[in-house]
Amino acid sequence: MKRVFVIGALTAAVALVGAGTVYGPEIYAGYRFMNALDEHDAEYQANGGAWPQLQDSCALCHGAHGQPQNAQFASLAGQSEAYIEEQLRAFAEGRRHSPQMSPLAANLSDEQIKQLAHYFSRQKAGRTESPASDKELEQRGQATVTAKGCTACHGEGLAGGPIAPRIAGQGKLYLIDQLSAFKRGDRKDPTQAMNALASSLSEGEILAAAHYLSTLTPTKQ
Ligand code: HEC
Ligand code: HEC
Repeated sequence: MKRVFVIGALTAAVALVGAGTVYGPEIYAGYRFMNALDEHDAEYQANGGAWPQLQDSCALCHGAHGQPQNAQFASLAGQSEAYIEEQLRAFAEGRRHSPQMSPLAANLSDEQIKQLAHYFSRQKAGRTESPASDKELEQRGQATVTAKGCTACHGEGLAGGPIAPRIAGQGKLYLIDQLSAFKRGDRKDPTQAMNALASSLSEGEILAAAHYLSTLTPTKQ
C-alpha cells in the first residue's frame, strides 16, 4: 500500500515538473502578455478612457497615435490642437475638400472634434518615412526652403509654431499633394500666404522641397 502511494506521489510530482517545463515558458509568456495588455490599457486610460476610442478609427489611414507609415497620409501626431481643430472644421464645412475626410469630418460633433484635436496634439511626432537618399535633390530642396523663409511661419526646424503646422518629417507624397493643391488653389489657406508661396514654386521646386522636408526628424516644438 505504502509503496503504491509513494509511486503515485512520485508520478504526480514528475508530471507536475514535466508540466512546468512544457508550460512554464507559455505561462511566463501569458504573464508578459497580460502585463503588456495592462500597460496598453493604462496608456489608453491616460488618453481618455477604455478601448475602443474615437481616435482608433483614424488609425487606418493616419496610423497608430496619428503617426502613419504611409507617406501619402498626414501625420497628426504633435500638431497643435488649434490646427487640427481648424482642419476638421474646414473639411466639415466644405472649406477644404477630400473624398475621405469631408464626409468623415461632417459626421463629427463639436465635442468629438475637440477631443480628437486634444488627443493627437499630445502624441509624439515622428518622421513618416525614410525616402531613398538623393543628396542633390535634398540640397536643392533645402535651398528652396531657406530662400522662401518657410521657418518664419512653420517654426524652428519646421516643427510647427503658432502660425503654421509642423511640416518636418511629413511624408513626401502628402507634402507634394498639399503644395500642389495650394498652387492650383484647390486648397485655400485662410491667410492666402501658402497659396501665394506655392504659386511661386515650380513643380521641380515642390518636389525638391517635399523631398528635403520628408528627410527631417521632427524636433520638439
Ligand atoms: C480613409 C482614410 C482616412 C481616415 C480613416 C481618416 N483620414 Fe484624415 N485624412 C485623410 C486624407 C487622405 C487626408 C488629406 C486630405 C487632403 O488631401 O487634403 C487627411 C487629412 C486629415 C487632416 C489634415 C491634416 C493636415 O496636416 O492638414 C486631419 C486633421 C485629419 N485628416 C484628421 C482625421 C481624424 C481625426 C480621423 C479620425 C476621426 C481621420 N482623419 C481619419 C484620410 C483619412
Ligand atoms: C507666411 C507664413 C507661411 C510661410 C512663409 C510658409 N507657410 Fe506653409 N503654411 C502656412 C499656414 C498658415 C498653413 C496652414 C494653412 C491652413 O490653415 O490651411 C501652411 C501649411 C503648409 C502646408 C500644409 C501642411 C499640412 O499639414 O497639410 C505645407 C506642406 C506647407 N505649408 C509648406 C510650406 C513650405 C514648403 C514653405 C516654404 C516654401 C512654407 N510653407 C512657407 C503659412 C506659411
